[in-house]
Amino acid sequence: MIRFVTTNEGKFREVSALLRARGIQIERLDRPYPEIQADRLDDVVEYAVDSLAAEVDGEFFVDDSGLFIEALGGFPGVYSSFAYRTIGAPGVLRLMEGVESPAARFETVIGLHGQGKTQLVRGACRGAIAREARGSGGFGFDPIFVPEGHGKTFAEMTTDEKNAVSHRGNAARALAAVLQGR
Ligand code: IMP
Repeated sequence: MIRFVTTNEGKFREVSALLRARGIQIERLDRPYPEIQADRLDDVVEYAVDSLAAEVDGEFFVDDSGLFIEALGGFPGVYSSFAYRTIGAPGVLRLMEGVESPAARFETVIGLHGQGKTQLVRGACRGAIAREARGSGGFGFDPIFVPEGHGKTFAEMTTDEKNAVSHRGNAARALAAVLQGR
């Protein structure tokens, strides 16, 4: 059984639903791990996987994600969890006041550790920051992110609708391809 190490229930809900639909069962290991401050999600994930590999038996993976807003030079990006804890979604909306382009993207890197190696898979989702928060589903910045080609925010979507277009959905589909291709 592969374990998804995450303290985030929303991430587990999304990834487990997508993998289950492809016949892959996973278990949640709800424990924290060190998240270093680095310029790239890849580095955060590699460090987390290395530190967990010493302590977790069997195959596991972690997910690190970030919201990159173009007009803010990619902020909060790798600092997304700090930004969420401090200024939150309302703070991001305030930063966007008077900003012309709301273009943004979410990125996810999943690090899979097993069979003696670590593999990274990635997913991204282009979209825009909404003018105001909408919806009560999902988690984190979901109420303020509208994926490209859609009128709804992630928080107004069901898990399946979000998975169909999201950064994490794309990364989880890449993970499923790795798991099924071996
Ligand atoms: P983490 O470091 O991957 O846990 O995520 C960084 C921050 O981005 C956290 O505060 C999350 O709440 C937020 N976040 C991560 N994934 C998503 C998502 O799919 N939707 C909205 N917010 C997210």
